[in-house]
Amino acid sequence: MREFSFRPNLQFFSGAPSAIARQYEWLFWALVVVCGTVTLAIAVFVVYSAIRYRRRDPDELPPQIQGSIFLELTWTVIPLGIFMGMFVWGAFLFFDLQRAPRDAQDVYVVAKQWMWKVQYLDGRREINTLHVPVGTPINLVMTSQDVIHSFFVPAFRIKQDVLPNRYTNIWFQADQPGKFHLFCAEYCGTKHSGMIGWVYAMNRQDFQTWLAEGAPEGSLASTGEKYFHQFGCANCHHFDGHGPCPDLRGLYGREVQITDGPTVIADDSYIRESILKPKAKIVLGFADIMPTFEGQISDDQLVALLAYIKALGPAPGAEQPTSSGSTPESYGIQPGIGGVGATGNANTEPGVR
Ligand code: CUA
Repeated sequence: MREFSFRPNLQFFSGAPSAIARQYEWLFWALVVVCGTVTLAIAVFVVYSAIRYRRRDPDELPPQIQGSIFLELTWTVIPLGIFMGMFVWGAFLFFDLQRAPRDAQDVYVVAKQWMWKVQYLDGRREINTLHVPVGTPINLVMTSQDVIHSFFVPAFRIKQDVLPNRYTNIWFQADQPGKFHLFCAEYCGTKHSGMIGWVYAMNRQDFQTWLAEGAPEGSLASTGEKYFHQFGCANCHHFDGHGPCPDLRGLYGREVQITDGPTVIADDSYIRESILKPKAKIVLGFADIMPTFEGQISDDQLVALLAYIKALGPAPGAEQPTSSGSTPESYGIQPGIGGVGATGNANTEPGVR
């Protein structure tokens, strides 16, 4: 186990515990070298010119210079090439960090003043700690119960704002075991500075053992199924396609046609909005009959419902959505969704994540 601390030691390459973090280091040092070299070259040239071409006689007139197309093109084109190169490099890294790989494991994070609540698909929960297996991409699906927070793990070079009323995501993959600082990086009230925790990267075997230790209530999706009945969702959302409300099988990641509106992708935020503010987007062909659940469902319960809806298989005969790895089964634990058939989950479009 290696600890990352903020001792004032100078580490040029810290040996960051994830591949993307190391790429960010290369980019950072490339920027430092290029910008440092240019700054130094200009400063030296300014000083040299000020001395070499200083006025020596009060009546001295400088010779007229006509300019040089070649010189001007050179000092325009070469820096343009260098800076465009840095831009493209940074853009590729940025997109890499925004798009979780398809086989990423979903972990849900709910932020509140002043703690981080973490829920795993298998049902295990924890507060202010995040345990992850080494070598597995982890996709964090995050929301806030109150104000804006920001999930920041410097060792992995990830920082993402966590907002109320919608889901944001960021992903990372640890490639060595260790214990790493987790911070809130957005001022969120008096105890903002205490909203800290640890990320534990563990060997797969240790992680499986850890995961199996504590999920007394069953998987997150099975908890979601319980809420699905408890809140009466099942009364209208039938799984035979004949209910008064849309059949939710295979919904996640699909395009949905809205009455008087465009099609939208049924992602986490859409499903959340449809539960809390059902009038915002009425699905074409259905009546505006769903009551709002705002104020009745907590963010933790919403996350469970989301996991349940994601785990619902596609309707028979429906176009098979692309399967992602984020099913409860991929943790090696049966989700225990009786009677509905959790045959995998639909994923968002690759570009949506
Ligand atoms: Cu949460 Cu600062």
